[in-house]
Amino acid sequence: EKGGYEHFMLKEMYEQPKAITDTFSPRLKDGKIVIEELGMSDEDILAIKKIMIVACGSAYHTGMTSKYVFEGLARIPVEVDLASEFRYRDPIIEEGTLLIVVSQSGETADTLAALREAKAKGARVLGIVNVVGSSIAREADNVMYTWAGPEIAVATTKAYSAQLIALYLLAMKFAHVRGKLDDENLASMIEELKEIPTQVEMLLNNKNKIQKFANRYLAARDIFFIGRGVDYAISLEGSLKLKEISYIHSEAYAAGELKHGTISLIEEGTLVAAVLTQEDLYKKMISNMVEVKTRGAFVMAVTNVDNTEVERAADYVVYIPKTNKYFTNSLAIIPLQLFGYYVSVGKGCDVDKPRNLAKSVTVE
Ligand code: M6R
Repeated sequence: EKGGYEHFMLKEMYEQPKAITDTFSPRLKDGKIVIEELGMSDEDILAIKKIMIVACGSAYHTGMTSKYVFEGLARIPVEVDLASEFRYRDPIIEEGTLLIVVSQSGETADTLAALREAKAKGARVLGIVNVVGSSIAREADNVMYTWAGPEIAVATTKAYSAQLIALYLLAMKFAHVRGKLDDENLASMIEELKEIPTQVEMLLNNKNKIQKFANRYLAARDIFFIGRGVDYAISLEGSLKLKEISYIHSEAYAAGELKHGTISLIEEGTLVAAVLTQEDLYKKMISNMVEVKTRGAFVMAVTNVDNTEVERAADYVVYIPKTNKYFTNSLAIIPLQLFGYYVSVGKGCDVDKPRNLAKSVTVE
């Protein structure tokens, strides 16, 4: 059933191009984004004053990424919350709030409870869910499915990638309806979106190189991930992937926060993975990389193919192909998933079923 792959996680990483395509294709019609299941008219979309995104784990990270996309593209303010926090803090839900819950399983106890809390307070709830007919899918006012297919490995990969795509589509749709994205720019973003599956495949084919690199870190004690903007969101995801399956302590930091504490943890040889895909933030990131390198860190960078400057601050570089600045997480996550996977394999961990974790967290 693993289709010749050593683990479900590897198989599911390789299913990402398909999961991505299956999530966007049914929603692209004649050069426009059509999301019928949204159940929202253009007037409803114009009436949105605020978006709240609530989820757990990796699904929360897709919410973090999409905050930058919704705000940057559609200029709608977004709050992102962990479901376990949201449900117990008597959240304020004003008129005009669209609440989005994101969940692969559709059964996560805290996310479901957050949905119920929000509905009771009068919010309209949109679920972005992978499992058809799951509790969250049934209870949300509307459901936009991610078409990633069944995911077995505890560490999510293809469902995460499909969630990002669903959220990009929503943000693009909202931006277009609200007059923040014209027809021409929408069309070119759609073209860039369609390139993602092939680009993901290209990055997956780099796996042997990443494996070789990962094998150098099997005995690492701590590994850090840094980024700014959407790259901060992906740092959180890269760090979670690594720690949940390899049991290596790892943390993700907004690069600008280094000086406020974390930098004291950097020692000779500590691996710092820096993600820098936002051109306007290259300089800031490079200076953060130099700061950790000066203190002995070994710096791995994940950056855009045209960022030649990076080599001066990085010891090891993975380049990602050119895409829209809002879509870079979909590409940059691939080397980070591979890295976590191969560290786990190299250490002989139970990759698909890491200790103490369950695929679906149905108790809080
Ligand atoms: O099924 P859900 O998307 O609601 O699950 C949320 C988290 O439990 C999940 O993303 C978890 O963090 C994964 N193990 C991450 O790989």
